[in-house]
Amino acid sequence: MIVVGCISGTSVDGIDVAVADLGGADSGQLTLRPLGARTYPWSPSTRAGLLALLPPAPTTAEAVCRLDILAGEEIAAALQSAIDEFASGSADLVVSHGQTIFHWVEGGVAYGGLQLGQPAAIVERTGLPVVSDVRSRDIAAGGQGAPLAGTMDLLLLRAAGRVGRGTSPYRDQAPRALLNLGGIANVTVTSPHGTAAFDTGPANCLIDAAVSSATSGVQAYDADGRLAAAGRVDQALLERLLAEPYFALPAPKSTGRELFRADYLASYEHGLGIADLVATLTELTAVTVADALAPYNVVEIYASGGGVRNPVLMDRLAAHLTPARLTTSDELGLPVDDKEGYLMALIGYLTWHGIPGVLPDGGGRSLTGARTPRVLGRISPGDRPLRLPEPGVTPRSLRVVD
Ligand SMILES: Nc1ncnc2c1ncn2[C@@H]1O[C@H](COP(=O)(O)OP(=O)(O)O)[C@@H](O)[C@H]1O
Ligand SMILES: [Mg+2]
Repeated sequence: MIVVGCISGTSVDGIDVAVADLGGADSGQLTLRPLGARTYPWSPSTRAGLLALLPPAPTTAEAVCRLDILAGEEIAAALQSAIDEFASGSADLVVSHGQTIFHWVEGGVAYGGLQLGQPAAIVERTGLPVVSDVRSRDIAAGGQGAPLAGTMDLLLLRAAGRVGRGTSPYRDQAPRALLNLGGIANVTVTSPHGTAAFDTGPANCLIDAAVSSATSGVQAYDADGRLAAAGRVDQALLERLLAEPYFALPAPKSTGRELFRADYLASYEHGLGIADLVATLTELTAVTVADALAPYNVVEIYASGGGVRNPVLMDRLAAHLTPARLTTSDELGLPVDDKEGYLMALIGYLTWHGIPGVLPDGGGRSLTGARTPRVLGRISPGDRPLRLPEPGVTPRSLRVVD
């Protein structure tokens, strides 16, 4: 079936839409044929409105209501464009993550999360059933609700024959990780003892905040790592940043811009110029990702997300991760910019077939820490009566096909 997935990540840089032909729910051997993906920019006013809702800003119910509708309408327009361009105007299901404006975590426990992008606006525009609110059920079951990438990552590694049983002596089944470098960085890592999926901390969000603040919003990010390349890492500040308690928490764990918010750096007296500050923040991302993966002895890391476009970040990551090989998700068949859109398509496809959207961790819980894996999301009927297929089975693997 043709499933259209979309998400706007913590960077709030645009709406990532991916159109996939998915199959195999009945056998557990899933296939995903990528039909096309594109990122649609938010309108400047909606982006500004969304950013204005994020912590530490105070907000109103009126602002949340307005942005829910405006975001929903822009997501709907993006989805319809993608359906027209990549699926000749006809698809079966839409999966919309929306824009997270709050991820409620306290003491390492997730209690809730709020995504904007009213599904009714999407149904009205596309006529299709919509799966939305994909994190809440997992959180209600004691999970972090994030990252959800672990599902797709583990299935992709299994399809590539990269997940061993027990202490496999074969290098091709040695521990591996997938890494997404969005506003926040998240990893999925396989090991002989099971699989873990968790947020390591900031990827781009602190870099973006520093650049945006230094340029009064003229630049939103460190384009091609130019500032980081021109600056020098300040070891003293780096040490202080590394003392953040989040980095020492055990997995599963998740975080967001409630913690690593726009004013996060304001409490650090540093007196650094913007280039040195960005170099230090770029190093922070590289070090925290490498430290988080260190216990697993991975041989390969497949990176995705906008951070892959930052050559300084990738160089520093490669240096800290050595001797492991740093490559990108393209090697697993999913382009770095499109992976999260396809992930949403996969999650919704599982929901549609009554299949949990999170996999077991191999140790008795779900990858997100929920008591057991749950079917995710909320389904809004499309123009036609809602008819769900026979339930499928928990998937074993996900093969990306041409
Ligand atoms: N050419 C580039 N140079 C440096 N950083 C980039 C570049 N392109 C994208 N990025 C970074 O990637 C971020 C967007 O990545 P994305 O994967 O969309 O994150 P999210 O999932 O949080 O939206 C931008 O905010 C920016 O920090
Ligand atoms: Mg993005």
